[in-house]
Amino acid sequence: MNKITVSAPGKLMLFGEHAVVYGRPCIVTAVGQRMKVTVELSNDPFFELKAPDVSVEGYKKQMIDLSIGEIPKGAKFVEIAMYNFYNCYKSYTKNTGIRITTKSQFSSQFGFGSSSASTVCVIKALSELMGVKLTNMEIFKLAYKTVLDIQGVASGFDVAAATFGGTLYYVIGGKILKPLNLPSLPLIVGYSGIKADTVTLVNFVKEKAKKYPKVIDDIYTSIEDLVNLAKKALLKGDFQTVGELMNFNQGYLSSLGVSNDKLEAMIYAARNAGAYGAKLSGAGGGDCMIALAPTKSKKAVEQAINKASLPLRGKAGGQHIDIKTNVEGVRIEKYGK
Ligand code: PMV
Repeated sequence: MNKITVSAPGKLMLFGEHAVVYGRPCIVTAVGQRMKVTVELSNDPFFELKAPDVSVEGYKKQMIDLSIGEIPKGAKFVEIAMYNFYNCYKSYTKNTGIRITTKSQFSSQFGFGSSSASTVCVIKALSELMGVKLTNMEIFKLAYKTVLDIQGVASGFDVAAATFGGTLYYVIGGKILKPLNLPSLPLIVGYSGIKADTVTLVNFVKEKAKKYPKVIDDIYTSIEDLVNLAKKALLKGDFQTVGELMNFNQGYLSSLGVSNDKLEAMIYAARNAGAYGAKLSGAGGGDCMIALAPTKSKKAVEQAINKASLPLRGKAGGQHIDIKTNVEGVRIEKYGK
C-alpha cells in the first residue's frame, strides 16, 4: 500500500475555554464536518503539499529539509507533524518521498480546529502507511506535541476531539480524557465572520492574570464548578440546566474580556428567540458562538443569529452553520487510489 486517505472531525468547545489552559477541565464535542488528508509515498526524496483551503499549492521541499527554513502558515502543522513522526518512529531512506493533499469540509475561518485535525490525520496516515501501529493515545500525544511546538501554548482539547471524537471531559495534555456517552446535542452554531487568533487571546488573558491574579483565578474556579455541573446535566439530558450553565460560562468569558459586541449580539438574539442558553465557543474575539435550543425553537434561533443587530451599528448577524455533534474521531477513509 502506498496511498491512504484519513479523516478527522472538527470541534466545538462546549464549556471551559481559557480556564482549561490553567489545568481546569473543559467539555468539547467533535463535529460532523471533517478534514480529509491523503498521503502518498513516492520515490523522490521530496515532501509535496497541496492544501487549497489554506492557499497552499505546489509547496515542495527535500525531505531532509523538513522543519528547516521559512514554512508557509498553511503548511506548518502538516510539515511539523511529519517531522515529529519521522523523528519518533522512523528514519528516512534516500528513497522516501511524501505527497500530501488536504481537503476540509469546513472553512479554516470557523475555528473548528482545522490545524489540529490535519495534524492528527497526517500522523494516523503515516503510521498506517509505514506499518507503525499507533494507539489513539500515541497519535494524540504526538499531535499535541506538534501543536505545542508550533503554538507554544495550547490545552490540546481540539487534538483530543479530532483523535477520539465524541464529547469529552478533558484536562490539559490529556491528563483526563473521559468520553461522555451522549446523544447528538441540539446545538446551533453561528459564525461571527471574524477570524480570531487563539494565541493572541490566550496571551491577552495571561496579561490580565498578571494584574489581577486572584480575580482571574477565582473566575477559573467558578468555570471549573460550572463545567462539573454541566457534565452532570449533559449526562442527564437536562438541557434547561445545560443552557443556564452556558449563560454563566459566557458571563465569565465576558469578564475575562474575550467576548465582543458582535458575539454578544448573536448570543442575546439566540437567547431571546428561545434558546436554553448561548455562549461563545473557543478563544473568543470572533469565530463561532453556540446555542442550545429546543427543537421547536431551532428555526427561530437560527434566523435570530443570522439577523442579530447592534443598536448603533446595525446588522451584526452571523451565519448559522448546520452541524452534528458527538461524531467519530480519526478514521481511515480509503486505501489506494
Ligand atoms: O480558538 P480555539 O477554538 O482553538 O479555542 C481555544 C481555547 C482555549 O482554551 C482558549 C485555548 C486552548 O488551547 O484550550
